Amino acid sequence: MLHESTTVVVIGAGPSGLTLANLLRTAGIDCVVVERQTRTYVEQRQRAGVLEWRAAQMFEEWGLAGRVLQDARVDGTQEFRIDGVPHLLEVAERAGGRYARILPQQFLVQRLVAAFLEDKGDLRFECTDVRLDRLDTARPTVTYTDAEGEQHRIEADYMAGCDGFHGVSRRSVPDGELTTYTYDHRIGWFTVLADVPPPRHPMFAVSTHGFAAHFPRGPRSSRFYLQCPMDDDLSGWTEERIWEQLRLRLGEPALPAGEVLEKAVVEMRSFVVDPMSYGRLFLVGDAAHIITPMGGKGMNLAVFDAETLAKAIRSAVRDGDEQPLRDYSATCLDRTWSFQEYSRWMTEMLHDSGDPATAGPFLHRIARARLKRLFTSDHAAGLFADLQAGIG
Ligand code: APR
Repeated sequence: MLHESTTVVVIGAGPSGLTLANLLRTAGIDCVVVERQTRTYVEQRQRAGVLEWRAAQMFEEWGLAGRVLQDARVDGTQEFRIDGVPHLLEVAERAGGRYARILPQQFLVQRLVAAFLEDKGDLRFECTDVRLDRLDTARPTVTYTDAEGEQHRIEADYMAGCDGFHGVSRRSVPDGELTTYTYDHRIGWFTVLADVPPPRHPMFAVSTHGFAAHFPRGPRSSRFYLQCPMDDDLSGWTEERIWEQLRLRLGEPALPAGEVLEKAVVEMRSFVVDPMSYGRLFLVGDAAHIITPMGGKGMNLAVFDAETLAKAIRSAVRDGDEQPLRDYSATCLDRTWSFQEYSRWMTEMLHDSGDPATAGPFLHRIARARLKRLFTSDHAAGLFADLQAGIG
């Protein structure tokens, strides 16, 4: 077995792990990234698509914006199509000029990989049998087998569990140390990635036919979401039904049909662990919390955790101050709960106001009133826009 030593081992090369690794590199702190999948796999995985203003600002502050954001499209307007009628909300203007960027996750990941390697970062793909030990000691270890079958053991000061919901990090914490909070929103989302020109603005559509959304994913592709029963069967979604339902729900009879690249039923559930750390292990992003796609905050929370941890490790390594590391979990959980609330608020507003059978006639009217308030109250629109931008 090959014995190695570093300051931080980052487990997982998704948005969390790659952001953290780049920030540590920028701060001059040694780290090794250990990823289970191949480079192609992580660089092609299509999931999130919006980088909030705060997260983009963070890349600016760390001097990475030039390489990471590049030509990321900016969109300051959102469309709410209510019963087929367009209502535009100038979210960037409402948030004092703070706009979100349309940046599909695969582009963010590709750029973060390239930036890290360009800076001579140590990024290892195809690591199997990853195992974490001695987490409650001063020198925890990670062991894994590389693609050639050689075993490695890396000792470090800190472990960053950036390996997503199904990763090994959280499972390495002894039973009883973490409290888990879960919530099933009792809604399904059928999602389709298709070669269809993107909408003019990201669009949420509400009508008695149910909720649907149309978001840009690159110059020629779109991601669609359609509300469906929780345990819906994919086989029921024939191409004919997909386009028929989208045209109906988006109020867009001329929507062109395009090649369907991917379809899936998304679980609308939330999950949070508290605390987000154990001994020298710090959980980051999806390893610590899952948020529904409503509001597009999953990738942004991951970036926030990564920055908070990078700064805390920098304080510990550079100044010998471990207080920010002790505060890491509370700082990230504060933000996580705030955005869980935002996502839940939006989920209720946009689903309950659709098909009246979903929530019943009373909550249907409440949701319609909530939606209407976005267009009648500057305060309501301003708060919504601030949350979109990642402020507050
Ligand atoms: N060992 C090493 N790597 C692992 C292991 C393991 N045992 N298990 C999982 N991984 C890797 C996965 O292959 C993946 O590349 O960890 C990475 C985790 O990435 P994500 O699941 O994307 O999680 P995270 O980086 O926290 O991203 C969070 O980004 O995709 C958006 O909105 C989405 O909320 C999500 C956010």
